[in-house]
Formats: sequence, C-alpha cells, structure tokens
Amino acid sequence: ERGEYRHYMQKEIFEQPRAVADTLESRIGPHGVLPNIFGVGGDELLAKVQGIHIVACGTSYHAGMVARYWIEEFARLPVSVEVASEYRYREVVVSPGTLFVAISQSGETADTLAAMRESRRRGYLGTLAICNVPESSVVREADLKLMTRAGPEIGVASTKAFTTQLTALALLTLQLAQQRGLDATRYADLCQQLISLPRAIERALALEPQVVELSARFIHRQHALFLGRGAQYPVALEGSLKLKEISYIHAEAYPAGELKHGPLALVDEEMPVVAVAPSGPLLDKLKSNLQEVKARGGELIVFAAGDAGMDAETGKGVALRLDPVGEFIAPAVFTIPLQLLAYHVAVLRGTDVDQPRNLAKSVTVE
Ligand code: M6R
Repeated sequence: ERGEYRHYMQKEIFEQPRAVADTLESRIGPHGVLPNIFGVGGDELLAKVQGIHIVACGTSYHAGMVARYWIEEFARLPVSVEVASEYRYREVVVSPGTLFVAISQSGETADTLAAMRESRRRGYLGTLAICNVPESSVVREADLKLMTRAGPEIGVASTKAFTTQLTALALLTLQLAQQRGLDATRYADLCQQLISLPRAIERALALEPQVVELSARFIHRQHALFLGRGAQYPVALEGSLKLKEISYIHAEAYPAGELKHGPLALVDEEMPVVAVAPSGPLLDKLKSNLQEVKARGGELIVFAAGDAGMDAETGKGVALRLDPVGEFIAPAVFTIPLQLLAYHVAVLRGTDVDQPRNLAKSVTVE
C-alpha cells in the first residue's frame, strides 16, 4: 500500500535504499563478490566470456548502457547494448565466447523475450537474465540469472527497478573484472563503493525539498534537454524518459559533447537544460558544454557533486549539490534527483503519475 506517500511512484523512489541493499544482500562481502551468485556453474561460465551483448527495452535498456561503460572499463571486455525490438530483427554477428544478457523488470516484455529466444539460434556462450520477477518467462528460459530484489513495482514509470538493475549489473561487472585480473586495490575500492550505495541513495533522497522548489520552473515548459557525459549519458536518457512519460513534457537527452552538432540550435530562453555533473575526468569538458548553453540564454539546471564548483556556471539557472560519491556508483546516485524532478513536475502539472496515458506497465505484445 501507498502508506504515507501520495503515489506509488513516490513510495517506490523512497524504497530504493532498501531495494538496493536487498539486491546486495548475501552477494557481496568485505572481500568482494561471493561465489556463484549467478546460479550453478555461473562463475565458470563467466570466466570464459570474451564479449557481451546486452538487450533490453526502455529503462532497462538505459541500465544496460551504463553497464557497458563499467564492463569495458573494469573488465576490458567488448560490450554492445541494443533495444530488443531492433536486436531481434537484425543479422547480428556473434563472436565466439559472447554472453547474451537480457535485462527486464517484468521478465515478460515481448520483444526482450523474443530476442532471448532468437539468441538461442545465434550461437552464444550462454544467456544471463537480470530480472525482478523470479517466475517470469525471461528467468525461466535463461541459463544464468541474477534477480533484482526491488519488490513489486506498481508505478508504470520504473524507478527502483532501474537502480536495482544497476546494482545487479555492478555485481556482474565486479565478478567479470576480478576474473580478468583487475588490480586488487581497485577492486576493493569498487566493492566498497557498491556497499555504500544504499546510504548514498538515502543522502540523495534528502534533496527532495530542493527538487520540489526547482520543479516549479518546469510547469509551463513544453520541452527540456538533458545532458550527461560518459556513464552519466544514459542517466540523462533515463531522466528525460521519466519526465516525458509522466509529465508529458517533450524531453530529449544528448551526450553533452553532441550539443554543437545539432541540439544547440534549440537552446533559447525557453529551453531548460538539465545536466548531471558528478566530479570526474569529464567535468571540465561538461563545464565548457554548459557555457555554450549559458551563452545562448538557456536555463541550466545542474545536479553537481558538492566539490564540482558548478555555481558559477549556471547564470540564472540553478545548481543543486549532491554529496560527492565514487565514480562507479555515481550513475545510480545521480538518477535519484532526476526521478524526483520528473515526479514533482508531474504532480504540479496534475497528470496521472502512476498510470500515464497510453502506457502499460508491462509491454507483452510487440
Ligand atoms: O519489464 P521491462 O524492464 O522489460 O520493461 C521495459 C520497459 O517497458 C520499461 O522499462 C519502460 O520503459 C518503463 N515504463 C520506463 O519507466
């Protein structure tokens, strides 16, 4: 039940620290990822993997996009990510030793399930399902599985499903990375970051009052642009999907470096530009992208790590500070204010938050 919350979506946003903690429970310990969390024979199979194809839809696809940055950086394996409706009808080339990974909250999404069935004919090393529903078709048909433990998600807009998928994919990344000789100190640091994720999400949730305040800027807007770089680009995509799904504001996300290649033409005083800017090697590049927006009168809304020195960059816009977090878990943490933003904008606009028009929770037809 919704309890003290006005909508299921809000309740589910606030359940994330617990859902992520549950997803980590008995899977990671002080010395790292525990044995065989992907099922019987999982570790042996993962040790043989030479490449990964991730297939999913919607929010689950965005989780897969984050995982590509992680797995390529830490496990040095080639990763491709594709939406299931494209994957299933494409003549995909599968190199020997490739693992097929399906990500689905429901485990019943028609395209994802069909893609997985199609993958059987394509000569993969094996299939792994990352899913929230243990008795679902996707889970039943996969060789290996790692369940997200988000609990039932009622709101059509996916929230806790996304951050628990990121958590499961982080565990997969760590397992693959360790098997491929990631430096022990680095591995220990990444594990510590992941263990601290529930707490970091809790701190991000404490920003709700500030997010409520800035959501007023969106009430009468028709469009919004979301920007991120690196693993925060899929976070920007997810933030824009949330906003369009439940507030019906047209939103698009771009990797910030693409601005000059087209979308900058849209920027004027009427265009709010939301940027996710954790600290890290790409911060200075992002800052110069934001300068381009500011110079054209665009209204910047920046979610920045406390130490990112963003205030000077926003002009008439606003910078909201998050506690600095490790780069590995930053995508999951920076997702939180974007979920809250979409939620509060929708509430202000009076839309049906839990049941957006034209959408169903589970897309079981093609
Ligand atoms: O159950 P699945 O994860 O397979 O669902 C995939 C998408 O339909 C889903 O993530 C959709 O995009 C959400 N409504 C997004 O909030």
